[in-house]
Amino acid sequence: MTQQQQTAGGDVRLAGISKTYGSFTAVQPLDLTVPQGSFFALLGASGCGKTTTLRMIAGLEEATTGTVFLGGKDITDLPPYKRPVNTVFQSYALFPHLDITENVAFGLRRRGIKSVKKQVDDMLELVQLGDFAHRKPHQLSGGQQQRVAVARALINHPQVLLLDEPLGALDLKLRRQMQLELKRIQTEVGITFVHVTHDQEEAMTMADTVAVMNGGRVEQLGAPADLYENPRTTFVANFLGTSNLIEGEIVSTGGDLVVAAGGGKLTLPRERCSAPTTSGGRLLLGIRPEKISLAHADDADDIAAGRNRVTGRITDSSFIGVSTQYVVESPAGTALQVYEQNIERDTRLLPGAEVVLHWNPAHTFGLDAAQDIDAGATSVEDAE
Ligand SMILES: Nc1ncnc2c1ncn2[C@@H]1O[C@H](COP(=O)(O)OP(=O)(O)O)[C@@H](O)[C@H]1O
Ligand SMILES: [Mg+2]
Repeated sequence: MTQQQQTAGGDVRLAGISKTYGSFTAVQPLDLTVPQGSFFALLGASGCGKTTTLRMIAGLEEATTGTVFLGGKDITDLPPYKRPVNTVFQSYALFPHLDITENVAFGLRRRGIKSVKKQVDDMLELVQLGDFAHRKPHQLSGGQQQRVAVARALINHPQVLLLDEPLGALDLKLRRQMQLELKRIQTEVGITFVHVTHDQEEAMTMADTVAVMNGGRVEQLGAPADLYENPRTTFVANFLGTSNLIEGEIVSTGGDLVVAAGGGKLTLPRERCSAPTTSGGRLLLGIRPEKISLAHADDADDIAAGRNRVTGRITDSSFIGVSTQYVVESPAGTALQVYEQNIERDTRLLPGAEVVLHWNPAHTFGLDAAQDIDAGATSVEDAE
């Protein structure tokens, strides 16, 4: 590490980085800063430009426009091997004929370092594979092999570790374990991780900051909870978890915003609205399924004053253990989603029952109605 890099910090900064293939733009000009030591996730559906962005940071892909800075230093024209950056791919590509020790030692050997034992042992301990040092890759599980790949990259002491869907080949349970494991490793070594994934739960579990990408652009960037609670576009609202989006017309802008929707009036705090708030304008009201309570219509009088209410009829319910998920048809929306925790279940809440959905107006967010209400709603997992 040069003096210059140290004084400028180790942030990765992309300035106007873009990539076009012929007439097709895979990554639109992108400005992005990844703070040193952070766990940063690039999240988006297949084809949105995540890998291309990562490869431009690694130097494996030449940027069409823009500059890549690492710690204030322009590295745009450095070849990959001269960048203090390592990449872990989904296909971990371990050397099958070498044991785990030699796989991890590879980077050191290549640089002519002879005494590798201490460093390899430390790395294997970091990824909790000390007992497997003399096995061959095929004698390890998928998750263990992926940890070897991480150790093999980290032994080079990169300033930045790039991970491209590294857990994509693992089954769900193992993937969950590895998410926590990678997070632990990152916290322990303190190196910047840039993690690419199409799995929103994975991004939220692991990352300090998530950049949601869509069509070669970063649509929104923030801490997971902030993105979830305050999506600014329908794409983010639908892609990150599930949102109910109700279209309405602004009828009052005095204090809180009042919106006429589905034959009733709904309220939301003005500061939670990312759209223009002129009276008469249209708005999409967003409310997350777990923030809604469900009352049988017979109990409507018991609902506290001041809550947003929508009347409707249950069309579907699925019991999934920790919660029951209802689909409700109403004038405000044909398929509103409500998740109720299974504490004391109201046995009247069955398909066909007339119900009132009610929630705290403060939990409502507002989006510009001039957007595709269904953007980001199709799960990529379904598409792949
Ligand atoms: N070498 C290439 N030539 C032409 N198009 C490419 C090339 N590499 C990627 N693309 C296109 O660029 C877009 C972004 O690709 P990629 O960055 O791999 O997406 P992601 O990793 O988000 O799935 C895709 O539409 C893909 O088909
Ligand atoms: Mg990719």
